[in-house]
Amino acid sequence: MTDTALIVVAAGSGTRLGRGVPKAFAEVAGAPILEHALRGLAAVDATLVVVVPAGLEADAAAIAARAGVAARVVVGGETRADSVAAGLDAAGDARWVLVHDAARALTPAAQVERVIAALRAGASAVVPVLPVVDTIRAVTPASLAPAARAEPDELGAIVDRAGLRAMQTPQGFDATLLRRAYAEADARGASTDDAQLVQALGLPVAAVRGDELAFKITTPADADRAESLLGPAIRVGVGADVHAFGGDGPMRLAGLEWEGQGLEGHSDGDAVCHAIVDALLGAAGLGDIGGLVGVDDPQHAGAHGEVFVRAAVARLTEHGWRPVNVAVQVLGVRPRIGTRRDEAQRALSAMVGAPVSVSGTTTDGLGALGRGEGVQAIATALIRR
Ligand code: CTP
Ligand code: MG
Repeated sequence: MTDTALIVVAAGSGTRLGRGVPKAFAEVAGAPILEHALRGLAAVDATLVVVVPAGLEADAAAIAARAGVAARVVVGGETRADSVAAGLDAAGDARWVLVHDAARALTPAAQVERVIAALRAGASAVVPVLPVVDTIRAVTPASLAPAARAEPDELGAIVDRAGLRAMQTPQGFDATLLRRAYAEADARGASTDDAQLVQALGLPVAAVRGDELAFKITTPADADRAESLLGPAIRVGVGADVHAFGGDGPMRLAGLEWEGQGLEGHSDGDAVCHAIVDALLGAAGLGDIGGLVGVDDPQHAGAHGEVFVRAAVARLTEHGWRPVNVAVQVLGVRPRIGTRRDEAQRALSAMVGAPVSVSGTTTDGLGALGRGEGVQAIATALIRR
């Protein structure tokens, strides 16, 4: 049983992002912000509590499952502080509690570990901080109105940035202390971070190094930055396979049984399925069919290609990828793909869970394929997060 609870607050409305959905459920790089945030926390040894808007509990549970984490999901409140309080109620009797913004979706796990390490080393309240890089100047609130923004005479004095730090999350606390801070806070509704409530009790707050990657996705520009840092949401892969005629059984190709001599191979020799497997795995950067569990297993002697295609799709799912479509071309003098194209496409699409198109061609009599010694398949797969 871990002694640390990690509360991820994701119950905000995301007004400034302006997507029309609660921010943590808005998609960036093909997945909800909450999913990216939870993925980044999967390796942290803590009891996870996720705080979400009412009505989105089931969605949050599904997102947590996709991110590969076990989480308690609870409903948040009107303000961030209300949401943290709801999370605290579900945090059990952990000795330490970390509170983290889902909106800081790219926070490196190392930052979380720094906070936990500081708690274990004796601090009772810890905040990751960053130096301020911009020149900072005080203004009178009126100058924040858009019409006045360009008025230089509205600006006040420069504030020496050397004496400033920007606050990030997760902020870590002795659980008893944080509960007390929340119980005693007069104006907790106005607080935008948790350490200030502890500080209001007159207690010290320690700082550890933050990280620029832990920025809070707040505006559309922040979402664009996250999108480019997370890399493309789609990837492409290619796979090829060749099997010679000579097997004993009937020929299996493209998930169908065909007239005539079969194909050699440890499994059923279905070069189309095997090429699709390599295209899918290659697209996700997950190796090739040789690395799929059980391919060489005696129990898979004669196994249908479908077993491996489904295993590859499952492997992709584990890593947050899903197929968009697959195109495969079959080279050889037989079978004639065109005669059963629809049937083959239906069978393969069912395995992949996305459209698979199949084309066939001969090699103009050239080479082993042209002499009818075997069949080759070349597949291209497109996948998305
Ligand atoms: N948060 C929350 N409950 C609230 C308000 C905020 O759980 N009532 C969470 C947000 O989901 C976010 C974090 O607190 O992960 C930081 O808040 P902020 O960036 O302000 O998010 P939103 O309140 O959603 O955005 P906005 O202020 O633009 O509406
Ligand atoms: Mg807010």
